[in-house]
Amino acid sequence: MCGIVGGIAQRDITPILLEGLKRLEYRGYDSAGMAVVRTGELQRERAQGKVAELEAALTRRRLNGRLGIAHTRWATHGKPSRENAHPHLSSASVAVVHNGIIENFEPLKARLEGQGYRFHSETDTEVIAHLFDCHYRAQPQPRHAQEARDTLLAAFRATLAELHGAYALGIIHCEHPEQLLCARMGSPLVIGVGSGEHFIASDPLALLQVTDRFVYLEEGDHALLTAHTSDIFSSGPVLQGEQSGTIRGCGSSAPLSNSCYWQQAERPIARFEHGPQAASKGDYRHFMLKEIHEQPEVLVDTLADKLTPEGTLLTAVLGPEAAELLPRVKQVQIVACGTSYHAGLVARYWLESLAGLPCSVEVASEFRYRHVAVQPGTLFVTLSQSGETADTLAALRFAKSAGYLATLAICNVPGSSLVRESQLRLMTHAGPEIGVASTKAFTTQLAVLAWLALVLGREQGRLDEVELAEQIAALQALPEQLRQVLELEPAIAELANGFAEKRHTLFLGRGAHYPVAMEGALKLKEISYIHAEAYAAGELKHGPLALVDDAMPVVSVAPSDALLEKLKSNLQEVRARGGRLINFVCERAGLEDEEGMRNFPLPKVPELTAPILYSVPLQLLSYHVALVKGTDVDKPRNLAKSVTVE
Ligand code: G6P
Repeated sequence: MCGIVGGIAQRDITPILLEGLKRLEYRGYDSAGMAVVRTGELQRERAQGKVAELEAALTRRRLNGRLGIAHTRWATHGKPSRENAHPHLSSASVAVVHNGIIENFEPLKARLEGQGYRFHSETDTEVIAHLFDCHYRAQPQPRHAQEARDTLLAAFRATLAELHGAYALGIIHCEHPEQLLCARMGSPLVIGVGSGEHFIASDPLALLQVTDRFVYLEEGDHALLTAHTSDIFSSGPVLQGEQSGTIRGCGSSAPLSNSCYWQQAERPIARFEHGPQAASKGDYRHFMLKEIHEQPEVLVDTLADKLTPEGTLLTAVLGPEAAELLPRVKQVQIVACGTSYHAGLVARYWLESLAGLPCSVEVASEFRYRHVAVQPGTLFVTLSQSGETADTLAALRFAKSAGYLATLAICNVPGSSLVRESQLRLMTHAGPEIGVASTKAFTTQLAVLAWLALVLGREQGRLDEVELAEQIAALQALPEQLRQVLELEPAIAELANGFAEKRHTLFLGRGAHYPVAMEGALKLKEISYIHAEAYAAGELKHGPLALVDDAMPVVSVAPSDALLEKLKSNLQEVRARGGRLINFVCERAGLEDEEGMRNFPLPKVPELTAPILYSVPLQLLSYHVALVKGTDVDKPRNLAKSVTVE
């Protein structure tokens, strides 16, 4: 989704902004733009389409300045177009970039139009530019540098106090070439700390070319940055004796809200732990392929703080409250979106069979609007790669006051909103995932969920020492088995050649492999644009069999488990109708290749780890089909990596 980069430096900022935008391309966007301040003037360039279009525009008309902001936009209010691209300006003095949605933009717009402001876009963001300008003009004229700073901050605070909704913001003013304003509320924003320069970005990956030191702003924070200083303020009720103030506005009738009060805040500087290569493809053709191949390694990293090499479960990683909370868990509610939702569906099988805990799993966009009946002792678990998915966050915020026993986030991004706002947390250490289609984040989520099922199974007295040791050994064996499965790649790549012209595909699985099949179908849809549907194989006869003919490949996930024989019967039903089968199958399942049926043998593994292992060839299949089709593998059309708006 939308991306922000900005900075105040002692050198021309434009190449840094452009590089930052390129690094944000993976998140999905439809237009891009940049504004800088130079000798008291605002200069702006925008383009519909890729960052390359903006770059081309910038070679025709070079911008140059030490203070600037830039943006990649993913349309919400108003179509993708140059006019709707950020930055938005007011009075040729103020430029604004914004991620999120301003819910009350219509009344604000009406008021500002009444005050004479003309709007040039269909966006909600443009109101912020005019509102800021309006509040800026309502302040007393600054006579010296300190007053100029106070004026900017006063106008900024008055603006923030009137905004309802979600935002990450960067604002510059042509009369203040040394100052960059930023704020976060419901959309992530970090400050990058350089040497004699400061930057802002919606994602630290955008700034790795200039710094590895970041300050993660908290909800409600706003900041004023210069090249050498960063003053951060939090909003909320002020304690006696703390620096605080109220606002002077420009005709707002809005009552003062909490965000009108502020206090200086200390925020720690954190080092980005993955190094600059984390955001590079290395020798791989695509990020997605790199991320598929990283899975053995990141599974080791993910389990390292949760299991000793001798097989002891390290539950302290859940946080200090866990010891008291875990024995009280009576059931589990999992909420997530997209691929993370599929991880939750797999986990339900584990939590019920290994821990005996009833478990429901629901997509966050539905859950958040439902009247849920909460049973006592329910652990509320959110799953998210990014920790910023708007629906998942909203579901968590709702759950916090809905009577759940506790909230637990399983997430890949340490400073994310989901992690910060949950009581308990478990991190997947997958490293940055750049490909829009999630791969390594999914399998590391599964590994963490399997670990959690074992922890809860022990807590519930459902797993004896011997059984527990066997399951833990299965988890520890997984990285090596994944390496073996990755060796199937050349054969899968060959298969993909005949797949690319297909228009529809059916994925089949049973038990915990039904959600694995769902994830396989999602991967294929996302990156190859081939329509794919997943079915629990036992449901074939209730409808999808009508679709089967020799033009539609049927992909099955067939590990050696209690349901294998039943699945084989379902496959016969497909064969009998002339369907063409592609089976990812346990090497000991006794299935032989024949006309219309191709088998890819996978090692025999315990039931706990099979869903993780069988996910990998499905990822490879989608990747290679997309490669043959020539689609944009890492940035599929219309999709975004992190969906930060509803
Ligand atoms: C988007 C991404 C998916 C991801 C989903 C949930 O749709 O394209 O890959 O699974 O969001 O994201 P999360 O960060 O919450 O796991």
